[in-house]
Amino acid sequence: MQSKLIIGNWKMNGSLARNETLLVGLVTQCCAGRAPAGAKLGLCVPYPYLMQARDILRGSSIAWGGQNVSQYDAGAYTGEVSAGMLQELGCTYVIVGHSERRSLFGETSEIVASKAKKALSHGLTPVVCVGETLAEREAGLAEGVVVGQLATVSAVLQGNLAKAVIAYEPVWAIGTGLTPDQETIQTMHRVIRVHLTAELEERHRVTIAEQPLVLYGGSLSASNSKAIFSVPGVDGGLIGGASLVLDDFLAIAQA
Ligand code: PGA
Repeated sequence: MQSKLIIGNWKMNGSLARNETLLVGLVTQCCAGRAPAGAKLGLCVPYPYLMQARDILRGSSIAWGGQNVSQYDAGAYTGEVSAGMLQELGCTYVIVGHSERRSLFGETSEIVASKAKKALSHGLTPVVCVGETLAEREAGLAEGVVVGQLATVSAVLQGNLAKAVIAYEPVWAIGTGLTPDQETIQTMHRVIRVHLTAELEERHRVTIAEQPLVLYGGSLSASNSKAIFSVPGVDGGLIGGASLVLDDFLAIAQA
């Protein structure tokens, strides 16, 4: 069985002291045998804490990454952080197109696609988030919205899409404590896989073995993760709130 990928997204949370407790705790627990056998772990932290994460996680089995990246290489883009900078700090992953970036900061699927492309060109794995709002789901548009978001990214990444990670995150499940039922998750993961297979195998002749992982995200917790990770097609999780609590994050990874 392919190991599951479990990525924490701290969002805009943390302090040097709190992070140290959490990161050292994670490394210690993983070394002490609480390392989940079938899981690969990563943490996406706020930019100012990347060096701290690198210094503590280096040499462990836990990877680190950013929560956003600029679509530009360098220059007069005040407040932006480039893929090259993330690469220099040893990042493995970078989240792109999180629904909070899309809804609060106006990121379109075109911008998300160019960020993913830039990340890949610097050897980073973009974790591309897709997902529908509640209104879109209630209007029967969920699958169309998700495929539309994916299609823009696929058109830009082409065969390199195989090197990305996709995270299906229904917007209404993020931070709300609500999760879709297992059938809904399975259906959407199947829709995503069908799209990826068509893009990669049929259009770009990339074999299925190289297909991207598809994670689920949205209110994953210690209590629901086992059930959600057992859903066919779910290759792991993107975890927000619970990644800030050592025992919860470890419990999810062990699930
Ligand atoms: P949540 O966030 O686990 O707190 O719902 C998930 C995410 O936003 O990636």
